[in-house]
Parts: sequence; structure tokens; C-alpha cells
Amino acid sequence: MNRLAEHPTSRLEPLKWSTRYETGVPALDAQHRRLFEIVEEVGARARGADGRQGDAFEAIFDRLADYAQFHFDYEEELQAEAGLPEGERRVHAETHRAFIREMQSLWVRRADFEHAGEALYRFLAVWLIDHVLGDDLGSAEELRRAAVPTPPADDAA
Ligand SMILES: [Fe+2]
Ligand SMILES: [Fe+2]
Repeated sequence: MNRLAEHPTSRLEPLKWSTRYETGVPALDAQHRRLFEIVEEVGARARGADGRQGDAFEAIFDRLADYAQFHFDYEEELQAEAGLPEGERRVHAETHRAFIREMQSLWVRRADFEHAGEALYRFLAVWLIDHVLGDDLGSAEELRRAAVPTPPADDAA
């Protein structure tokens, strides 16, 4: 599924949450909103004076990687509890792993970009929008059908 055309992230436009990203699973929506906020922090910094310098993003990138991992674990656990088919869960989880790998690979190459902030932000925002609208909305429909009670989102991360 390719929704690149509707991404609002060309030329570093702000990433904004909207109801169309809602899965209807409250804990997932809360976590996705948080991910949007952290990615938009990357965007805000990318638009700032030191936005070209990859090293300026170290702390925020660490925080994002931690929170993304927390969220992926939570989401995958929910899918397992709801009894979603194993093959489907494996493919979804691999998408999560690939994102973390790609983040790390971009980070390693941060000095190669003319505008590191833009490269990082665009990758993150495009991936997040695409993943939530595609994979997450799709599997959330099955989660809602299974009606598994969801524990509250953990905001500690
Ligand atoms: Fe996901
Ligand atoms: Fe998700």
C-alpha cells in the first residue's frame, strides 16, 4: 500500500495527528499519538538552526527508538492475545524490526546527508503515516473484532 502522495512531509511540513489515524483501540491510539509527537519534535528541530547537523538529533532519536520499541512490543502482544493469525503477526512484526534497522542505518549515515534533519524526519514521518494507515488500521480491525480488553498505555517510556 503506497500513500506517499498524501504525506504532508515534503519540505518539512509539520506532522499533525488526525482522526483518520485512529484505530479505535484506545491504548494504541494514545501510543501512536505519542509517536507522532516525538517525530514532530524531530521535524521541529530539523526546521531549526541546527537542523542540518545529524548529531543534534541524538537524544531525541534515542527517545524515539525506545518508545517505538515499547509500542511495537505492546502492539505485537495485543495481536497475539487477540489470536490474530501467526503468519500475519510475523509479517507485521518484521515490518517493525525493519523500521528499527532502517532507523539505525540512517543514524549511522547521518553525516552523509546534506540536510540530516530533513532526511531523518522525512523517513520517520513517511514510515509512521504509512504504517499506521496501512498495517495498524488493518490489524486493529481484527483486534476490535476480538474485543480483547486493553491495558492502559504506559507513558513512562
Ligand atoms: Fe504496527
Ligand atoms: Fe502501531
